Amino acid sequence: MEVSKCASDKSQTCANIVITGFMGTGKSKVGLEVARRLGWEFVDTDTLIEQRVGMTIPEIFSQQGEGFFRQQERQLCQELAKRQGLVIATGGGALIPEENRQALGTSGLLVCLTCDVREILRRLVQVEDRPLLDAADRRERIETLLAERREAYRRTPHQIDTTGLTVEEVAERVIRLLGDWGEAAVERIVVRTPTGSYGIHLGKGLLARVGELARQQGLRGRVALVTNRTVRDLYAATVIESLRKAGFEPAICQVPDGEAYKTLDSVGLLYDQFIEGRLDRYGAVLALGGGVIGDLAGFAAATYMRGVSLVQLPTTLLAMVDASIGGKVAVDHPKGKNLIGAFKQPELVLIDPLALATLDEAEMRSGWAEVIKAGMIGSPSLFEHLEERGDKPLLSILRHSSVQVIAEAIRVKVAIVEEDPYESGRRAVLNLGHTFGHALEVLSGFTLRHGEAVSIGMVAATRTAVALGLCDEAVEGRLPALLQRFGLPTRYEGYEPREVWKAMATDKKRRGEKLRFVLPRAIGQVVVTDKVPKAMVLEVLEKLRER
Ligand SMILES: NC(=O)c1ccc[n+]([C@@H]2O[C@H](COP(=O)([O-])OP(=O)(O)OC[C@H]3O[C@@H](n4cnc5c(N)ncnc54)[C@H](O)[C@@H]3O)[C@@H](O)[C@H]2O)c1
Repeated sequence: MEVSKCASDKSQTCANIVITGFMGTGKSKVGLEVARRLGWEFVDTDTLIEQRVGMTIPEIFSQQGEGFFRQQERQLCQELAKRQGLVIATGGGALIPEENRQALGTSGLLVCLTCDVREILRRLVQVEDRPLLDAADRRERIETLLAERREAYRRTPHQIDTTGLTVEEVAERVIRLLGDWGEAAVERIVVRTPTGSYGIHLGKGLLARVGELARQQGLRGRVALVTNRTVRDLYAATVIESLRKAGFEPAICQVPDGEAYKTLDSVGLLYDQFIEGRLDRYGAVLALGGGVIGDLAGFAAATYMRGVSLVQLPTTLLAMVDASIGGKVAVDHPKGKNLIGAFKQPELVLIDPLALATLDEAEMRSGWAEVIKAGMIGSPSLFEHLEERGDKPLLSILRHSSVQVIAEAIRVKVAIVEEDPYESGRRAVLNLGHTFGHALEVLSGFTLRHGEAVSIGMVAATRTAVALGLCDEAVEGRLPALLQRFGLPTRYEGYEPREVWKAMATDKKRRGEKLRFVLPRAIGQVVVTDKVPKAMVLEVLEKLRER
């Protein structure tokens, strides 16, 4: 997933390149050339319609009428918008209807080719298959049609004037545009659940579009925006404004900041504010914040009036790639973390990576541990990409490639939770690094952050896997090197290995489980096993201990 280097990597996301414009501007030739250079699939909507209907375009116009043709175009636009990695050349009138432009335009980079009328005439001189140009005075007809369509063409975000340019030169410009694409693009990932599906939308500036997207999702009326003071001061105004613009009546509901407040008492506070804000069964709860807010608001949404709709608006890296996805919501109990919870699938998850600009470095590091974990569990290309990117990973989050990194980490989790929505098996792999990590977290009295503990835990798991002969030794070097580049610890201080073992075993015994380990077999592949000798674990821990 060389996301930062090469434009063609966009084929792995939901991006298409859509080339539109008036007839004779070179859409098909340019599209074909762009597709050839990027190695993407080329689709010409006119040709596809001809193939499907079994007639040429002039035959369709004369025998079935223009209305029939436009209907075919509309269907095709909806269909193609769901696909990825396509270069699509549209018919000249295909994107004039707003509905078609919206569908294809949001699926990737939309470019409109323009051209001087004289050159269009020259290019079309020998062409006879354009039914709309059958009139005797071609020039006049072209000018009239162009005038009719000018406004719609102008509304496309990128324009390239092809007058005097070769096909290769225009293709080059389209590909250059692709390099900048992404600033306004929205990545969409669909998650299938036992009861349906929901969408994760990822794009810079999405917090200002919450209202519009929630409305598109069918949500209406009163909504409760759950947040804490820190996040409220930063982002609530933007979200509230977008909600109001879209016709919602939002109420801000606040809980104190911190894991210490992820409790039933805080849920009680939220119920009070929901009632005061007159949130009814048809309303929705919007969780704006990190994993703590997502879990709390999610639990409140699962139980208030036997369940109201939930929208996750995660603002920490950890919540974006992990906590907001998968439908688990919970609060802590004095006897343990996340002991009281539910499965509550959101209607929508909206991720605005720009929110990460205000997150402090320690929180970012915790998130990076989860991103690296995703690479280890299910995406060698994500792992390799992180290895290759520049040496300022904490700052580069605002680059487009970072959006792709977050999306890829999400895809790893989505694949797992789709397979195991109620955590009865496969989800265990998400606990890579947790058997060791959780013990270290507990021993430190939670002064070691979760992400830091997972980081050390992943290294311990890798060493164990190598010692068992499950995993190639090279991984043992690559993982710590990557974690260190992201400022994460790979060794621990203090505790005797026996103490750590005891903490690992006690925790599991308390829950009546066997001590299970998630171990890497390779980068991007893990196994779950309970067959790890204690002596081996102690040896691994000894070697990871700082003295
Ligand atoms: N439900 C799940 O599947 C799941 C998975 C993983 C973790 N979790 C839970 O997530 C929680 C940890 O989440 P977290 O790491 O996001 O911690 P957090 O929610 O406590 O957020 C960390 C801190 O960052 C602040 N913050 C949030 N967004 C910010 C922003 N954009 N700018 C500045 N500050 C911001 C928060 O107010 C908080 O002080 C834990 O309770 C954990 O149990 C749940």
